[in-house]
Amino acid sequence: MSLDAPTVIRTKRDGGVLSDAAIDWVIDGYTHGRVADAQMSALLMAIFLRGMTPAEIARWTAAMVSSGERFDFTDLRRDGRPLALVDKHSTGGVGDKITIPLVPVVLACGGAVPQAAGRGLGHTGGTLDKLEAIPGFTAELSKDRIRQQLSGIGAAVFAAGDLAPADRKIYALRDVTGTTESLPLIASSIMSKKLAEGARSLVLDVKVGRGAFLKTEAESRELARTMVDLGTAYGVPTRALLTDMDRPLGRAVGNAIEVAESLEVLAGGGPDDVVELTIALAREMLDVAGLDGVDPAQTLTDGTAMDCFRQLIAAQGGDPEAPLPMGTHTETVVASRSGVMGDVDAMAVAMAVWRLGAGRAQPGDPVQAGAGLYVHRRSGEPVTAGETLFTLYTETPERLPSALAELDGGWTISDGRPPSRPLVIDRIS
Ligand code: URA
Repeated sequence: MSLDAPTVIRTKRDGGVLSDAAIDWVIDGYTHGRVADAQMSALLMAIFLRGMTPAEIARWTAAMVSSGERFDFTDLRRDGRPLALVDKHSTGGVGDKITIPLVPVVLACGGAVPQAAGRGLGHTGGTLDKLEAIPGFTAELSKDRIRQQLSGIGAAVFAAGDLAPADRKIYALRDVTGTTESLPLIASSIMSKKLAEGARSLVLDVKVGRGAFLKTEAESRELARTMVDLGTAYGVPTRALLTDMDRPLGRAVGNAIEVAESLEVLAGGGPDDVVELTIALAREMLDVAGLDGVDPAQTLTDGTAMDCFRQLIAAQGGDPEAPLPMGTHTETVVASRSGVMGDVDAMAVAMAVWRLGAGRAQPGDPVQAGAGLYVHRRSGEPVTAGETLFTLYTETPERLPSALAELDGGWTISDGRPPSRPLVIDRIS
């Protein structure tokens, strides 16, 4: 039976189930330019509105994996033993810089991390945009270079390139068509890259709350379950942590500014929540990869994780000692009264940072390495009238008014402490 894009789009638009053949055809056609952006945009919106069955999600993911290469690093050895190839991926958050300290911690504990990472999507930042704020750092690595890095220092953080090229195109299209916040599209996007990148086990950080793509705990649980089942079906042991994303992670949100905060964590300091989540995810990664012996928390205080970070950055052309760029135009928000910092809405902060120039409005837009926001007073901290609560950074001062408008109403000063929430809500395996 011959297939065509309008029929596939109409099937999903009207609430039907796409056949395996239709899914394979549309993913292959879009990857190779036979299905147009406008047609894929319409189909993505239909999927956004109508959803997908578990069988459709599994087939859509498999088709995206098959759209490119699948790496295999199982032949690589360290000290005569196969590498413990393990990775983590986050569903996307605000101030979520965890990969930057986490990869070195896992390396320092004996793991190996082949990580296909992403750029910013929607209101969330991307690991590659953050790491590329380090002068000289490149994420465009060939397969040979990834292999060399894995057998040399044990890690590579790279743009997906030839892995799941269907996801690369669909990811960029979702970013500009209002179709990011969809369970089937998030699950298939993440898992297609993770199943193709060569990791032998996987930990997922599934965000819950205002700054997450999926806002409710029930939706996030379903996303976690869907991805854990997809990984397991592919023979890649997969677990997920459900973690809070109502408030930004840490104090720094943006590109270079998040690298700077990660360096504080790697030097044994940094905000408590960033340290807690780094260690919790490291423990899961080591456990799922069958590694024990080294305490991940110790690697942050004894300097071994910092050494691994420097090696990783240098291996990818970056200068770990170079000063990080910070936007030269700044604006501050000050407290109008004394009290306690109440709620800080992760979504309001994310939108402000996006307006400052840290994210994209069009596929391929450049991002500003120095755009970002610093939260001086976090929820529950005492506030004195007149002191600075937030500092905004950008290279383009005309962006400041719209960023301030996004932040407006996204925080409160109260008389008592706001309720505190656990950072790690649940674990799904
Ligand atoms: N990360 C991805 O790789 N894809 C998504 O859709 C969301 C987060």
